[in-house]
Amino acid sequence: MKKIVLTGDRPTGRLHLGHYVGSIENRVKLQDEADQAFYMVADVQALTDNADNPEKVRDNVLEVALDNLACGVDPKKTTFFIQSQVPAIAELTVFFLNLVTVSRLEQNPTVKTEIEQKFSRAIPAGFLCYPISQAADILFCKSTIIPVGEDQKPVIEQCNEIVDTFNRFYGQVFHRVKHVIGATGRLVGTDGNAKMSKSLGNSIYLSDSKEEIRKKVKDMYTDPKHIHVEDPGQVEGNVVFAYLDVFDADKEGVAALKEQYQKGGLGDAVLKDRLTEVLEGVIAPIRARREELAKDPQKIMKILEEGTKVAQKIGEQTMQEVREAIKINYFK
Ligand code: TRP
Repeated sequence: MKKIVLTGDRPTGRLHLGHYVGSIENRVKLQDEADQAFYMVADVQALTDNADNPEKVRDNVLEVALDNLACGVDPKKTTFFIQSQVPAIAELTVFFLNLVTVSRLEQNPTVKTEIEQKFSRAIPAGFLCYPISQAADILFCKSTIIPVGEDQKPVIEQCNEIVDTFNRFYGQVFHRVKHVIGATGRLVGTDGNAKMSKSLGNSIYLSDSKEEIRKKVKDMYTDPKHIHVEDPGQVEGNVVFAYLDVFDADKEGVAALKEQYQKGGLGDAVLKDRLTEVLEGVIAPIRARREELAKDPQKIMKILEEGTKVAQKIGEQTMQEVREAIKINYFK
């Protein structure tokens, strides 16, 4: 079986370190190992909770494409495209809607959490159904390897249920898919919240300046009882150490710092200076490439346009098979 990789981002804002460790690092790696790789700007999904704000979605198409290109997702190896421009995805979504119950959608843990965060009462049907349209994103090109953050696991599980039901009703067309989660599946937010998320305002962006990084690190939660430098401090639950564990390549150095911190004698300011330098080391090259790429937005749109044409063609091939399986291929 061919190794086909696909992933995507909602264009609702710039991407952050959580995206980087959860999924982008894997995208960059997997594009070399795959027979085919796709990167989607999921504008249709972004509209499921931004229906009244199309400008925001449109403006961020370029931003998320830039973030991915700057991180090394390479248009020579990965087909970049825009979700809304591939009719097969919309068409597949319509047929997949019949394969999933409303109660199953309401039980999806990812969707449940997002609904709690985003909507007080009225939930758009499109939002509740986004796992169905995401299954169409994944299956229109028959991809089976999906690099995503840990929070997306239940959505991928639901995709596999759709695969099973589709094949049972109509004969084997699709294969089950596998999610690939980064070594750090979920990065804590700068405020200590379980997840770095743009909607929670606790993110460090891949385009942040060194000063912005410094400020965000400065505000990070450490140990409220660690008041004086000499006081023993707690490492567990300390956000600065959580980040050093993920981003500082000098593991021995971090272990020594932890020891010193626990004993007392290491101030938060010194620790935070170190983390600022470590994060700047990760982000500076991405930021520099991003600034360079951002000088020619038309070139980026051209990459998306070319990739979209490829995706459209592949989608149409899959749809011919799907229509035949569902017996709606009337006019051959
Ligand atoms: N739901 C994903 C997220 O919020 C984005 C996404 C849309 C996606 N379509 C996809 C991810 C297809 C993987 C595959 O991060």
